[in-house]
Amino acid sequence: MSIQSVTKRKTAPDIRARKGGEPIVMLTSYHARTAALVDRYCDIILVGDSLGNVMHGFETTVPVTLEMMVLQGQAVMRGSQHALVVVDMPFGSYESSKEQAFYSAARILKETHCGAVKLEGGARMAETIAFLSERGVPVMGHIGLTPQSINTLGSFRAHGREEGSWEPIENDAKAIAQAGAFSVVIEAVAEPLARKITETIAIPTIGIGASATCDGQVLVLDDMLGLSPRTPKFVRRYGNLGPMIEAAIESYAADVRSRSFPGPEHVYGMKAQLSGH
Ligand code: KIV
Repeated sequence: MSIQSVTKRKTAPDIRARKGGEPIVMLTSYHARTAALVDRYCDIILVGDSLGNVMHGFETTVPVTLEMMVLQGQAVMRGSQHALVVVDMPFGSYESSKEQAFYSAARILKETHCGAVKLEGGARMAETIAFLSERGVPVMGHIGLTPQSINTLGSFRAHGREEGSWEPIENDAKAIAQAGAFSVVIEAVAEPLARKITETIAIPTIGIGASATCDGQVLVLDDMLGLSPRTPKFVRRYGNLGPMIEAAIESYAADVRSRSFPGPEHVYGMKAQLSGH
């Protein structure tokens, strides 16, 4: 018998088959421990390049490297058993050619054993998505607000809110679906447009600041747990862990300073000696 987990993980085709069905639940995780918790309730764990902001304190996701994604992808795979793990392709690892994209995606799949990659961009990435999909790399697209393009976008504003601005975003969604992506994240897009795209394209849409009618939803775990300094409009906070963690650290510091920690129960006494040896 081969040494393989007996648990079957969800696959990209499993997610693709969920179009129009039970909503797909997705959260980010970058560590083994949070991955184990997310794995119990979610269909997809995204090792997002938002780890650049959350773990490394970068202002944007632009400085994130392939090495960072591989390392945290490995941690999330070790922590989870059931969910499909999708690893983000970082800025600069896939845009210059479809061959560069294949090399980077293959490295992510080989070194993390995750089930799929995600990349940002619509129609302009369609050829690359087709190239990867035809060569065994399941691709999740990402359209609307694409944070890796912050330096050309200028700001993190929502898209499709102005009269006459829908066409390029609709074309992006269609191009990605036709190119063979198994699903697409729609980020910060006017609600009626996200709804229309969801009704139009054949692959599942996963919304973040998009529409409740999307085929699934995703949030950054730290945002929904109340660990981020700023809560974007599209986040519902399901916890307030920031103040809880701070209170715990404050208590620990006070206990150390007053010598009430460690207590007698936290230290090791001597082993009893047998008399006469
Ligand atoms: O990097 C990330 O966490 C993401 C989500 C916001 C979809 O791409």
